[in-house]
Amino acid sequence: MSLVGALPFLKPRLSPSVSPGRQRRHTLPASEFRPLNTQDAISVFEIEKEAFISVSGDCPLHLDEVRHFLTLCPELSMGWFEEGRLVAFIIGSQWDQDRLTLDALSLHKPKGSTVHIHVLAVHRTFRQQGKGPILMWRYLQYLRCLPYVRRAVLMCEDFLVPFYQKSGFKVQGRCSITVASLTFTEMQYPVRGHALMRRNSEAIGFPQTATCLTLESNHIFNKYVFVLFLLLKI
Ligand SMILES: CC(C)(COP(=O)(O)OP(=O)(O)OC[C@H]1O[C@@H](n2cnc3c(N)ncnc32)[C@H](O)[C@@H]1OP(=O)(O)O)[C@@H](O)C(=O)NCCC(=O)NCCS
Repeated sequence: MSLVGALPFLKPRLSPSVSPGRQRRHTLPASEFRPLNTQDAISVFEIEKEAFISVSGDCPLHLDEVRHFLTLCPELSMGWFEEGRLVAFIIGSQWDQDRLTLDALSLHKPKGSTVHIHVLAVHRTFRQQGKGPILMWRYLQYLRCLPYVRRAVLMCEDFLVPFYQKSGFKVQGRCSITVASLTFTEMQYPVRGHALMRRNSEAIGFPQTATCLTLESNHIFNKYVFVLFLLLKI
C-alpha cells in the first residue's frame, strides 16, 4: 500500500464549497526566535547601521562579515522576529583560546569550545522594552543545549559592563583588541557551569524555568513525534 494511500489525512483538504476568500489566510507569527541565515544579512546590517555606524562610524560586523558568519555558523546566531520583521539579533562564532585576539573578530574556529558573541543589537524602535536581555537569556539557554560549548565571551565598551553583568557575564579583564581609540572589557559566561547549577536546582526541587527544546531542537522533536505517529497509523 502506498504511504499516501494509507494516510488519507495527508491529502489536501480543499473543499470546493469554500471560496478562496474564505480560506484561512497565512499569517506571520507574532513573535518568533530562530537562527539567522544569509537572507537575513541585509536586515541585520540595517539595524547595525543605525545602532553603531550612525553613532561611531563603524560597527562590529560589516555586511560581508555578517554573511561570512551566517554561512559558516548560522546555528550560533539568533534572530527575534515580530510579524516577520527582525527586531533584535545575536551573532556568534566559535573560538578556541582563553582570551580574544584580533583573529577572533573574523574567524570561526569549529573546534573551539567558546562561543564569541560578536554583536547583540535591538532595532531602535524596540529598545527599552527589555528585549535585549530577553534575547540574550534565550541565546544562553540555547547554548546550554550545545554539548561542545563551555562558555560564551564578548568584548564591550565599559559603559555596557553593568548591562551584561545583569545577564550573568563576569568581567575577565581588559581586552587586548582596540578599534581606533576604543578600548573594551572582556566578559565571559560559564555555559556548562550554569547547566550544572540547573541540574542541582532541579535536584532540590526548584521549578525548571528553561527547556532545551528550543529552535531547531524543537523542530527535530516535532519531526520525531510526527514520524512516530505515521508508524503507529501504518
Ligand atoms: C544595548 C541594547 C542591546 C540593550 O537592549 P534593550 O532591549 O534596549 O535593553 P533595555 O533598554 O530594555 O534595558 C534592559 C536593562 O538593561 C539596562 N541597560 C540598557 N542599556 C544599558 C546601557 N547602555 N548601560 C547600562 N545598562 C543598560 C537597562 O537599564 C535595563 O535594566 P533594568 O532591567 O534593571 O531596568 C540596545 O540598546 C541596543 O541594541 N543598543 C545598540 C547596540 C549596542 O550597543 N549593542 C551592544 C554592544 S554589541
